[in-house]
Amino acid sequence: MNNQERTFIMVKPDGVQRRLVGKIIQRFEDRGFKLVALKFVAPDQGLLTQHYADLKERPFFPSLLKYVSSGPVAAMVWEGKDAVKTGRVMLGETNPLASKPGTIRGDFAIDVGRNVIHGSDSVESANREIGLWFQPQELVNWNTNDHGWVY
Ligand code: TYD
Repeated sequence: MNNQERTFIMVKPDGVQRRLVGKIIQRFEDRGFKLVALKFVAPDQGLLTQHYADLKERPFFPSLLKYVSSGPVAAMVWEGKDAVKTGRVMLGETNPLASKPGTIRGDFAIDVGRNVIHGSDSVESANREIGLWFQPQELVNWNTNDHGWVY
């Protein structure tokens, strides 16, 4: 068990354009995770190429890059027990066709090439992706009971 585990979650351009950012943040809050970083950016090809470096030999890589660079994305880091694994369950499968209703892709996506959201698939990838997208000072340490106004 690791209460401090962190995962990198990104609402992709189709998710932003379809106004799903709020709903997706809501799901992670409702599940009990803590937001530690959030940024709305139009990532450049260099960053996206690094992000998807493991896939660069795959035939769909050029279309994937075109898709994820087609507009702004909402990048975030969520923290909590088993955040990586639970995040992946919340996302559903890579292919929305295989994703169960109740998951983000199962509720909001049809096409593998427009599957709304990215989530780290291991703790190692999460650490790599968080380091790629965020400066250390952009990861905010905070606690609910810091001020005593939540009972
Ligand atoms: P991958 O890292 O395998 O999946 P996930 O996003 O679930 O971790 O692939 C990255 C993205 O590449 C995936 O979200 C959508 C796209 N993709 C395709 O367009 N076609 C494919 O056949 C696959 C496997 C992925």
